[in-house]
Amino acid sequence: MNIQKTINIILALCLLLLIIKMNPLDKNDMNDNGSSTLEIIHQRKSVRNYTEKKVSKEQLETLVKAAMAAPTAVNKQPWAFIAINDRATLDHLGYKLPYAKMTKTASAAIIVCGDLSKALEGWEQAFWIQDCSAASQNILLAAEAMGLGAVWTAAYPAEDRMAIVRDILNLPENIIPLNVIPVGYPKGIEKPKDKWKPENLHWDKW
Ligand SMILES: Cc1cc2nc3c(=O)[nH]c(=O)nc-3n(C[C@H](O)[C@H](O)[C@H](O)COP(=O)(O)O)c2cc1C
Repeated sequence: MNIQKTINIILALCLLLLIIKMNPLDKNDMNDNGSSTLEIIHQRKSVRNYTEKKVSKEQLETLVKAAMAAPTAVNKQPWAFIAINDRATLDHLGYKLPYAKMTKTASAAIIVCGDLSKALEGWEQAFWIQDCSAASQNILLAAEAMGLGAVWTAAYPAEDRMAIVRDILNLPENIIPLNVIPVGYPKGIEKPKDKWKPENLHWDKW
């Protein structure tokens, strides 16, 4: 085999390896929209402007499945999720909640709630907040991966906002709404913010 032939074979092999690496169908390190997990994390942003395209019940279920995959203290899973795609309820929430007005134009929303009847007791009860926060972040990341847009709007610990959510959704006493997460197809206005500040990272000690 002459040198030119050998070089051609090596080049062809390199090209093949490059194609395999870039193939979006390689499910091991790619998400639904072809992005890697780290890309999704860095692409996520609060989305408050939506098109009129509807989010389906199946998509909402996918988001809640992602939520339920989150870690929880002692694996208690002290949560409940309310998925809403009823227009009147979305409008009612958006009208009453001053910091969640975008719910009026979102095609859906998920309310992440702590369920105190499933939570730990005593001082450990407060772990529900961290558990439900982890679930909420999973929803936001899954929405980004699915080409949807979402934003965490606070209920807990604002008593007035919790009372509004409680009232509209008829929540029992043991169910504490952590947030309202409107979901829709993004208009493409919002961009991710670069929050990397090296001075906030400390190595080995303060
Ligand atoms: C605990 C918490 C409460 C928030 N409450 C609201 C809210 O009530 N309304 C709102 O529009 N955004 C709310 N946000 C979204 C933040 O404003 C947003 O995450 C922040 O500005 C950073 O922007 P980014 O999400 O695009 O990175 C909340 C976020 C968190 C984590």
